[in-house]
Amino acid sequence: MSTVNANLTYNYKVVRQFAIMTVVWGIVGMALGVLIAAQLVWPSLNLDLPFTHFGRLRPLHTNAVIFGFGGSALFATSYYVVQRTCQARLFSDSLAAFTFWGWQAIIVAAAITLPMGLTSSKEYAELEWPIDIAIAVVWVTYALVFFGTVTKRSTPHIYVANWFYGAFIITVAALHIGNNLALPATAFKSYSAYAGVTDAMMQWWYGHNAVGFFLTAGFLGMMYYFVPKQANRPVYSYRLSIVHFWALIATYVWAGGHHLHYSALPDWAQTAGMVMSLILLAPSWGGMINGMMTLSGAWHKLRTDPILRFLVVSLSFYGMSTFEGPMMSIKTVNALSHNTDWTIGHVHSGALGWVAMISIGAIYHLVPKLWGIQAMYSTALINVHFWLATVGTVLYIAAMWVNGIMQGLMWRAVNEDGTLTYSFVEALEASYPGYFVRFIGGAIFLTGMLIMAYNVYMTVRQKDAVAEDNAAVQAA
Ligand code: HEM
Ligand code: HEM
Repeated sequence: MSTVNANLTYNYKVVRQFAIMTVVWGIVGMALGVLIAAQLVWPSLNLDLPFTHFGRLRPLHTNAVIFGFGGSALFATSYYVVQRTCQARLFSDSLAAFTFWGWQAIIVAAAITLPMGLTSSKEYAELEWPIDIAIAVVWVTYALVFFGTVTKRSTPHIYVANWFYGAFIITVAALHIGNNLALPATAFKSYSAYAGVTDAMMQWWYGHNAVGFFLTAGFLGMMYYFVPKQANRPVYSYRLSIVHFWALIATYVWAGGHHLHYSALPDWAQTAGMVMSLILLAPSWGGMINGMMTLSGAWHKLRTDPILRFLVVSLSFYGMSTFEGPMMSIKTVNALSHNTDWTIGHVHSGALGWVAMISIGAIYHLVPKLWGIQAMYSTALINVHFWLATVGTVLYIAAMWVNGIMQGLMWRAVNEDGTLTYSFVEALEASYPGYFVRFIGGAIFLTGMLIMAYNVYMTVRQKDAVAEDNAAVQAA
């Protein structure tokens, strides 16, 4: 181990900026989620206006939560972790600032263009070509800053969290550029470079790996730093973390075919997607177990530390959604689940239970450190937030499981003479109670986020002389 250089300073400014925007985009994106959930219960909330219609607000919700909230959390934590674990200041302050302002401008552009109906119509890649180019530029700059910092590290090895962040950065660049190749027709309209089933295959290679790398690998990087730090224990098995890394990234990229079961995609490609998804259970659970077991000897801390609770419960949801995903990829199961609310439940057990909970835990850990304060303003409020988030998530996903299985069964029920037992509208009517429960669950989760914003605000207000931008480093 090299010694710590006493003159070394970190760039916390950009980390602070992204940390604040994580909370802001979290609230905006989830408020949109609650609104569209309400529209599914009370359709008149569409207001009969094109800009406020479900079809336009839904992609705005997904972009705001995935790229605004999740993206800001990933930028904040990766910039923090890479500096701390490499014992090096960010490669370039100005390029890092460029990634902050560039990324925020992109989310704002999404918030303007999506309600206007400007969309490439590819899920999670809806933004039109000028914004896509901006994303590519910001992302390549991000890679420069991150890998530039790794290169100038003063530690002999590269801590495993950085491997996950690094794989996430490289793969997202390849996915984004690959899937968004398009021919511009006008300033805001383009046509995909791919046609027919090839287009679908590219889209779901992208879509599934957006899950695998944007919503998983980067957050695993977060797990490998913040769980040991918050528990004050070493990672359970460093060897397992390396096996976990290679197994996960080698498997994820082959699984996208499970989104196209029973479609025009060749049968063998669908089956390959299913088999790789089943294999994916092993590395996913290997990682989850590694995170959980890091708490060996420190379980008692869960009683008093709500931040640790956020982190550990997020791992339970990660384990749950990565068990559910492989099951849903089995063709016969998918025949029931596909296009139903079961998928939506699965999405949000990953999105709320895993992605949001681990980000929230990491931000609570970070905020006092970034502003040079002892602790968050109120631990009691973190505890309240923890329970709101947990209850909100459970209500959301349980309602969607019930709805999903019911819809799947109603759609496939046939009478003896071969006619359908239920019309589509009957299945929709039966779904309303579930939609209402989901709305309540979402509103509860959002309330927790508002409490977080208050707690963060009160904490930051306490900042005193200690909060120097480029404070001298303490031992990591
Ligand atoms: C208060 C919290 C949230 C609420 C109330 C909410 C609500 C919703 C609703 C109503 C939909 C549309 C479902 C449909 O079309 O039937 C949706 C879709 C989606 N949401 Fe959320 N959401 C929340 C948080 C999040 C978060 C934090 C993420 C990601 C980090 C997320 C990711 C998604 C994704 C990816 C979809 C599209 C799913 C698909 O197409 O299968 N949501 N959400
Ligand atoms: C081993 C891991 C996983 C596997 C094998 C897996 C598998 C699946 C399957 C089979 C579907 C349904 C496809 C369909 O019927 O159209 C699906 C949908 C989805 N999953 Fe997962 N999943 C996994 C983990 C996760 C996690 C951790 C998240 C979130 C953080 C997530 C987010 C999503 C999203 C957003 C969709 C909806 C895509 C869409 O149709 O818009 N998945 N997943």
